[in-house]
Amino acid sequence: MSFKIQPQTPARPNRCQLFGPGSRPELFEKMAASAADVVNLDLEDSVSPADKPKARENIIQAINDIDWGGKSLSVRINGLDTEFWYRDVVDVLEKAGDRLDLIMIPKVGNAGDMYAVDALVTAVERAKGRSKQIGFEIIIETAAGAQNVDEIAAATPRLQSMSFGVADYAASMGMRVTGIGGTQDDYFMLANGAPGSERAVSMVDPWHYPITRMVAACRQHGVLPVDGPFGDFSDSDGYRAQALRSATMGCVGKWALHPKQVALANEVFTPSDAVVTEAQRILEAMAEAEKSGQGAAVLDGKLIDIASARQANVIVQQIELIENSKA
Ligand code: COA
Ligand code: MG
Repeated sequence: MSFKIQPQTPARPNRCQLFGPGSRPELFEKMAASAADVVNLDLEDSVSPADKPKARENIIQAINDIDWGGKSLSVRINGLDTEFWYRDVVDVLEKAGDRLDLIMIPKVGNAGDMYAVDALVTAVERAKGRSKQIGFEIIIETAAGAQNVDEIAAATPRLQSMSFGVADYAASMGMRVTGIGGTQDDYFMLANGAPGSERAVSMVDPWHYPITRMVAACRQHGVLPVDGPFGDFSDSDGYRAQALRSATMGCVGKWALHPKQVALANEVFTPSDAVVTEAQRILEAMAEAEKSGQGAAVLDGKLIDIASARQANVIVQQIELIENSKA
């Protein structure tokens, strides 16, 4: 219990973040025309080292020239363990106009990493007289990031969202997995039964712990928690399953690596009519109960109380935010 009121998260939809390599400028107009809430132009792992300078130029031109509509526009810079990141920040912020909203910092390990980027961004903003303050997105995708997620969440008011990056996290943790996210064949439990007999297999979720941990750090500090990539873009059912479970755990959105995944993310992270109606019925029933001085009520044979109204409010506020962003 704390007397502190949990801070609000940034009031913008973040259901789908569509990525595209900075070295493939022919994709940029398509990204701008997509239904993603956030567009991430990538300078990091989808761009080879030799292509980094050209990719920076492509991205700067695209930020300045393309009509990005109402989307949140972000550039993913290289990690602080590379020689590329400072030039990503300096070139993009010196040469790209104010349309840019966010910088995404990958492989953040501690609050000091955030401080370093914040210091550089602040200096460029002052030198160039940039009128709009750049926000940060970061990726939790290393053992250090997972261990220090609390101090990272609290590091700077620039921070708007955190994503969980499955592939780099798995590598950093020494996990014996390949592929980017999803079910892992070797991660399951067997129902009790005689050895050698047919026993039910229960597939479990190897990403559950770090994502739930990240969601808690985000919610404590008013940061949007986002589920990261799902590599097999031919497997819509697998993507939907992983997105549904992260929505259930409190994430507000998921990445798309291919246009096919945009509609899936938007569908999962927009509360359905049935879910919204149910939430509204709970709020109405609780309002009635309150009028008669009750803190609890019965709806469809089930107990609801003031905590039920808080849960219902999360859903109603989500749909209002999405509806208002269309206006
Ligand atoms: N954004 C917008 N449009 C995209 C796109 C993207 N990320 N990826 C592909 N498209 C377009 C293609 O140009 C093509 O358009 P067309 O129908 O007008 O020709 C259409 O979607 C189908 O593309 P497809 O041929 O299936 O894909 P591809 O082979 O061109 O590219 C990937 C596949 C995975 C290499 C590509 O989607 C990609 O680079 N994704 C992003 C990777 C990334 O940024 N990773 C970093 C974050 S982990
Ligand atoms: Mg990564």
